[in-house]
Amino acid sequence: MGEGRSKRLFIWQNGQIVPLEKATVNVLTPAVLFGANVFEGLAAYWNSKEEELYCFRFADHFKRLFESLKIMRMAVPYTIEDFFSFTSEAIKANKFREDIHLLQVVYVDDIAGLFRQKKFGMYIAAQPHMHLFDTTKGIHCCTSTWTRISDGSSPPRVKSGPNYQNSRLASLEADAKGFDWAVILTNRGKVSEAPGACLFMVRKGQVVTPPVTSDILESVTRATLIELFSKERRMPVAEREIDRTELYVAEEVFLCGSGAEVTPVVSLDRINIGDGKIGPATKRIQKLYFDVVRGNHKGYSEWRVPVYKS
Ligand SMILES: Cc1ncc(COP(=O)(O)O)c(C=O)c1O
Repeated sequence: MGEGRSKRLFIWQNGQIVPLEKATVNVLTPAVLFGANVFEGLAAYWNSKEEELYCFRFADHFKRLFESLKIMRMAVPYTIEDFFSFTSEAIKANKFREDIHLLQVVYVDDIAGLFRQKKFGMYIAAQPHMHLFDTTKGIHCCTSTWTRISDGSSPPRVKSGPNYQNSRLASLEADAKGFDWAVILTNRGKVSEAPGACLFMVRKGQVVTPPVTSDILESVTRATLIELFSKERRMPVAEREIDRTELYVAEEVFLCGSGAEVTPVVSLDRINIGDGKIGPATKRIQKLYFDVVRGNHKGYSEWRVPVYKS
């Protein structure tokens, strides 16, 4: 719990700040019955020296939200500026002075018909950052026996609740088998991503990540790392298909996302990646990433949107 914040969590829902327990959705809506929603998830980092909370790449997350809405034939009458103003309200209502995670969910709120979608609701939740993994340690992954959803059935570039059933199957299987997390393959047998994070490998000195056509969510963190590798490390990232066995013989593998941050993978299917320790490229990009998101790096200020001084 951060300093100065009340224990009660407040949520922004349809224009009102309400206590969490009062933020409700009708059980007969397609939102509840079919998970008819699209959403965004991003992190904001607390900079204690500057006494400021920075939302990371807010506009880029909202460009993705608008793409998800467009593909799902949904619409809301809000601009990116509106989203930022509503999100700031949700953060300020909770007086957060710590790293947080933000969720902005647009849902189908129309009980007239199960497949209708004329009325939409929206809620915005700010919660303490879950820091999915201890990123100073490497995680052990398995290759999932589940196949990644694909563009022709449930498009992975849409960030929607139902797409996470595929991620849940893979995560629950990994957990049942004693692994930390999973790597999921496309229906063509190529590496796609982890249940809630994109994947990079370093192979023969080259940084590689699957392309956006490998059934991945078009991750903002992935785009960030591609830019940081190229600008700060002079290591252009190759976006190409990756075979499963390439990961076994890679020097380094790591995952990335707003929740996963930069998480090293030290083994896959009980085969060590490299020497089974966190590799040098992973360590350096991880440090760079944390410095940039928290505002300890002087560059990239356009990616950090201050909440309290805005
Ligand atoms: C399936 C999936 N892939 C990738 C990511 C990473 O995306 P981002 O970096 O935009 O958080 C996420 C994050 O939520 C995800 O759920």
